[in-house]
Amino acid sequence: MLVLNEVEGWLSLEVIELLQDLCKKRPTNSDILEVGTWKGKSAIAMATVLDRDSILHCVDTFIGSQEHQHLYGEVNTLKDFQENLKAWQIENKVRIHIGTSKDVAEHLDDDSLGLIFIDGSHDYADVLQDYQILFPKLKIGGYMAFHDSKWPGVRKVLWEEVFPTKNTGLIKRIEDTTYFQKTPHSYYLIWNLIQLFVEQRKQDLKRYKRKARKKYFRFNEY
Ligand SMILES: C[S@@+](CC[C@H](N)C(=O)[O-])C[C@H]1O[C@@H](n2cnc3c(N)ncnc32)[C@H](O)[C@@H]1O
Repeated sequence: MLVLNEVEGWLSLEVIELLQDLCKKRPTNSDILEVGTWKGKSAIAMATVLDRDSILHCVDTFIGSQEHQHLYGEVNTLKDFQENLKAWQIENKVRIHIGTSKDVAEHLDDDSLGLIFIDGSHDYADVLQDYQILFPKLKIGGYMAFHDSKWPGVRKVLWEEVFPTKNTGLIKRIEDTTYFQKTPHSYYLIWNLIQLFVEQRKQDLKRYKRKARKKYFRFNEY
C-alpha cells in the first residue's frame, strides 16, 4: 500500500490535512496550482482528493531551491515526481509546468483558480513575484496558502503585501503554513490580524494540551 508519508518531502500530517481540506472547500470545479513540487508530496496530497473535472498545475524548475543545491549539489526531481504520479495513478489530474510562476501566468485566466499553494523559492523577490502574478488568478472565495511562512522572505511578503491588501480575509495559520481566502470585499487589516492572533493562541493551546497529555501518560506508566 502506498503511504504519503513515505514520499520524500517536508510536509507534516497537519499541513497535508489542511491542503486536502482547502481542496474540498474551494469553489466547485476550479483548478488548483502549486509553486514548488519537488517529488510531489503536496501534489499527491491535493490530487488524490481532486474531482475528475479539475486539474492541478504543478509549477517547478525541478532543479531545487538554493538550499537544496547547497545540500545535495546538482538536483533534478522531475523523474522522481513523474514516477510518483504514475505510482499514485494521478497522472491525468496533474499538468506539469517546468519553470516559474512567470512562465505559467499567460496560460491561466484571471479568476480561474480555487486554490494556490506557494512552496517554491523562499527568497523575498521570488515569493513576491509568485504572489503578485498568481493572486489575480484566484477566484473570489478561493484560498491561497504559503508554506514555510516563518522564513524571512515569505514572512516579509505576507506582512508587507498580503495582510494589508484588499480582498484578503479570514487569515489563519496551521504550523508553518499561513493561508487566507480571497474575499469579495476588503476586511480591515486590524480584523485580519486579530483573527491571526486568535488562531495562534488556539494552536498554542492545542500544543500545550498535547504536551500535557504526553507528560500525564508518561507519569502514569510508572
Ligand atoms: C520545498 S520544495 C517543495 C516541496 C513540495 N511542496 C513537497 O511537498 O514536497 C521547493 C521546490 O521549489 C522549487 N523552486 C525553487 N525556486 C523556484 C521558483 N522560482 N519557481 C518555481 N519553483 C521553484 C524547487 O525546485 C523545489 O522543488
